[in-house]
Amino acid sequence: MERLQKVMAEAGVASRRASEKLIQTGHVQVNGQTVTTLGTKVGRRDDVQVDGVPIHREQHVYYLLNKPRGVISSAHDEKGRKTVVDLLHEDEEVTERIYPVGRLDYDTTGILLLTNDGDLANRLMHPKFEVAKTYVAKVKGIVTNDDLKRLRLGVRIDGHKTKPAKTRLKETDRHKQTSLVQLTIHEGRYHQVKRMLEAVGHPVIKLHRETYGFLNLQGLQSGEFRELRPEEVTKLKRQTQG
Ligand code: URA
Repeated sequence: MERLQKVMAEAGVASRRASEKLIQTGHVQVNGQTVTTLGTKVGRRDDVQVDGVPIHREQHVYYLLNKPRGVISSAHDEKGRKTVVDLLHEDEEVTERIYPVGRLDYDTTGILLLTNDGDLANRLMHPKFEVAKTYVAKVKGIVTNDDLKRLRLGVRIDGHKTKPAKTRLKETDRHKQTSLVQLTIHEGRYHQVKRMLEAVGHPVIKLHRETYGFLNLQGLQSGEFRELRPEEVTKLKRQTQG
């Protein structure tokens, strides 16, 4: 038996906190009865509905994708472009209603987690737990130590100062006037890496995400994916507790 708000969050209804509100305000029914007390526990066979609509409970699945360029990081695209979910559903073994945890831009490549575990996805994206993400960017111009320092200390984007980052200059090409920079950040603002590098005068030419927390792309070519191992799922859950 599990707490009702946890079951709701895992089904992707809303965060645990928002699910508690839904319960307290009389939106939730268990086996046809409206339940407003937070201590309520439910089992797998209990029928849970929100405003009369059954919640979707299925086995949790967790996939790690090496996202190729030219694919949208969402479950649907109004313009009909191919999404990361379409890509996984091309494999007939993947039948669950999964969605990506966070986003990578259309032209960004690299590591992306997909799951149907709404609770874990919400936690991973919560600012309190925002996991470390390492990117490698090919940028215009020769990046200086001063640029790296500014990136490390934080730059202003949209009136907000970015949180401390780690940086490393991997390569410079004086002939082509480009640099390769590694950047580790914990936040996930819209176009964050591109805007940080733009802010120090180095527009991004190519962007790749190498790691997501302790996960990396070892063994995965572009466009390939694998299921997370149970111990990796446990570790992600442990790291996002509290
Ligand atoms: N930052 C960006 O600018 N783009 C991405 O895809 C990810 C992080």
